[in-house]
Formats: sequence, C-alpha cells, structure tokens
Amino acid sequence: AITIVRTVAALRSAVAALRRGGGTIGLVPTMGALHDGHIALVERGRREADHVAASIFVNPTQFAVGEDLALYPRTEAADLARLEAAGTALAFIPAPEEMYPAGFATTVSLAGPAAAGLEDRFRPTHFAGVATVVAKLFVQSQADIAVFGEKDYQQLMVVTRMARDLDLPIRVVGAPTVREADGLAMSSRNRYLAPDERAAAPVLHRVLAACARTIRGGGHAGAALAEGREAIERAGFALDYLEARQAESLAPLADGTGGPIRLLVAARIGKTRLIDNLGV
Ligand code: PAJ
Repeated sequence: AITIVRTVAALRSAVAALRRGGGTIGLVPTMGALHDGHIALVERGRREADHVAASIFVNPTQFAVGEDLALYPRTEAADLARLEAAGTALAFIPAPEEMYPAGFATTVSLAGPAAAGLEDRFRPTHFAGVATVVAKLFVQSQADIAVFGEKDYQQLMVVTRMARDLDLPIRVVGAPTVREADGLAMSSRNRYLAPDERAAAPVLHRVLAACARTIRGGGHAGAALAEGREAIERAGFALDYLEARQAESLAPLADGTGGPIRLLVAARIGKTRLIDNLGV
C-alpha cells in the first residue's frame, strides 16, 4: 500500500525507513491531476531506483497573477489510486504552509541559456518558482534520482542545470513525452480544451514532426519554421513561439556547435496555453 505523508518531517522518516531496507529512492515531482504521462515517470523511476516517492503540490510560486492557479485541477483521491496501482511507495502531499511557512524569503534564481528566451519570455517568474520548489523537494526527499518529463523540456534543462550548479546530490533523469493517439502531448491542461479546440490541438505535434523531418532531410530550418508558424495560426492558435534551439544548452542555433537540435512550441487557444517539443 502507498504511504501518504503531508509534512517534511514525516517524509524524512518515511524515506529513512525505506533506506533502512537498503534501497535507493526515486522522486517524481508533480502537481497532481495525474495522467499516463505522469505514470510513465513513476514507471521510469521504478526502473532506476528501488522505491518511488511522488509529490503532489500545486506550487503557487510558479504561477503568475492571471494564470490558472485557482482553476488548476485537484483530483487527490484519483491521483493516489493511480500512484498506488503504479507501485509508488510514498506520496508527499504538503499544504502550501508546509512548503512556504510564514517568513519564507529565499528563492533560487536562474541565469543563462537554459532559462533564456523561450517560456521565460512569456512567464518571467515561472522558472524561479519551479527551481525553488524543486530544490526544496530534492533536499526534503534526499532522493537518489528524480524523473522529469521531456514534455516540459526547458524545465528539464533548468532543473538539470540547477542540480549541477547547486551540487545537489541527485541524478536528474528525463523521460519521453507520452502522447494521445493523435499526437497531442498529454497535459493536465488538456481538460480545459473545448471540443473544437481539442480537435485543433494536434497541429502542434504535426508541425513539430514536419519541421523535424525537413531539417533532418537537410532542408531549410527557417523556411520550415515559418511555414509551421502559419499552420499553427491557421488552426486557430495564437502563437507564442515556434523555435529551433540547440538541444542541450537551448542556445539559438546561430551560436551553434552543430549538435542535436530541439524544436519547441508554445501557443494559446481559447483560455488554454499548450507547450510541446520534439528532438530533430
Ligand atoms: P506537472 O505539470 O504536474 O508535471 C509533472 C511532471 O510530469 C513533469 O516532469 C512533466 O514534464 C511531466 N509530464 C507532464 N506531461 C507529460 C507527458 N505527456 N509525458 C511525459 N511527462 C509528462 O511540471 C510540473 O508539474 C511542475 O512544474 C513541478 C516540476 C512538479 C514543480 O512544481
């Protein structure tokens, strides 16, 4: 059965109990509203470590005013059932006051290409909130590894960089994006989509795949991206960005070393903002 803990102290003693058996710990941080993409992270965690601890915490500091913090879906009972069925040993579900007690005054701030020019242009305070809560979760759980989805590719790069820069003794593992049959990346936010918006949404993956094909075949990246931007807007989206970047540093291709390329997209339809990405 899954053990549920809601305080840092209870998390620490539950992790210590698991370690006494000699096992390693894998952490899967989430904001709940779990879908198959999250569960794939738990499965990956179980392959990389002896025990998986999942956190469910809708982190207020990574939402800006006017974003969907209040509306963010909360489905704790269903989440716990899914985590338990996937073999999660431990669920950490702190209240906001447990993570941010009165007087809380410290933030992890970021610099450099891992956090420059993509999501941060549209959500300027987002990654400081993510990096801070993830640093706390790493220290609180003392996990050996942590699994993040490629779905949030810039987040994966930011968190990997942050762990390295702060010498946090944890290995960050990236897991592939889980998609619906029509290519739409699974996301807790997909449930906001009206039927016509949901029908339009696979254009994002379709465009990424077409651009990747063109670039792989030696075609002109700039032209492929321009065509892709038009296709996304024709489908009814307001585009935030569709960009090709160096996969590891997320630096623009112009400063390029010619290494692997990642395509990243963010676009809004109705009230919903979707992101996706693909390796070339
Ligand atoms: P959340 O959006 O709940 O996502 C939790 C983890 O699941 C992230 O690592 C995310 O990349 C991964 N994920 C989401 N959809 C996925 C999909 N379709 N396929 C594979 N992985 C997927 O990301 C966050 O929460 C928060 O920012 C968090 C890291 C928990 C910090 O608050």
